[in-house]
Amino acid sequence: MKGVVLAGGLGSRLYPLTKITNKHLLPVFDKPMIYYPIQCLVNAGITDILVVTGGNSAGHFLQLLRNGSDFGLQRLHYAYQEGEGGIADALKLAESFAEGDGVCVVLGDNIIQGNIKKAVTDFAGQGGGAKILLKEVADPERFGVATVKNGVVQKIVEKPKTPETNLAVIGIYLYDAAVFDICRTLKPSSRGELEITDVNNEYLRRGTLTCEVLKGWWTDAGTFESLYRSATLVREGGANRMDV
Ligand code: G1P
Repeated sequence: MKGVVLAGGLGSRLYPLTKITNKHLLPVFDKPMIYYPIQCLVNAGITDILVVTGGNSAGHFLQLLRNGSDFGLQRLHYAYQEGEGGIADALKLAESFAEGDGVCVVLGDNIIQGNIKKAVTDFAGQGGGAKILLKEVADPERFGVATVKNGVVQKIVEKPKTPETNLAVIGIYLYDAAVFDICRTLKPSSRGELEITDVNNEYLRRGTLTCEVLKGWWTDAGTFESLYRSATLVREGGANRMDV
């Protein structure tokens, strides 16, 4: 299983902080934001990692992360996303890197308190398809929201105005190699992006989507409020812990 960290985009919800730098280089307490998703993959035993970036300061990722030595990696891979095509568009750039393997995709602004070891092991045992991770949140309308019955996902709606549940689909996804064929079939949404929720709903339609509820806290860091909250959470309880 290979790891992909998606760290492109303009981060316009954080203007002017992101006017001259990339969102994923901003500090979250004592580290640059992108350190957290990379460490999340490494803690799950995934050490072959691609960082997809773009937008402002793309070259700074190379300066900051170099070969990944801060994470004990021998080598880190990089890809450049042109434009603002969305998460599933950025993921397309990982196809040649994946070489037919499954991928664990982590959004560069997602931070967790614990680890995804169990989810990665469970996914390896399910023989393909996809797995999403869910977390109860107070503001589900900001996210992809899943309706789940007896542990089985019934549907996922991207940013619903009136969410059916409080289960957000967090930005950590496990996919088999079919994900790249699925990405090719997608059409841009009303916000002009290829949506990762459409990818997940295609796996759901095929009957190969599983889900798990994450232990410990989860946050994104793409708005002023969530950026502030993520720094506080990391400061108070630490992120990427193996004991959660
Ligand atoms: C994206 C996804 C959404 C998911 C969220 C997690 O939202 O589209 O389904 O719940 O990441 O952070 P975005 O950050 O693009 O608004």
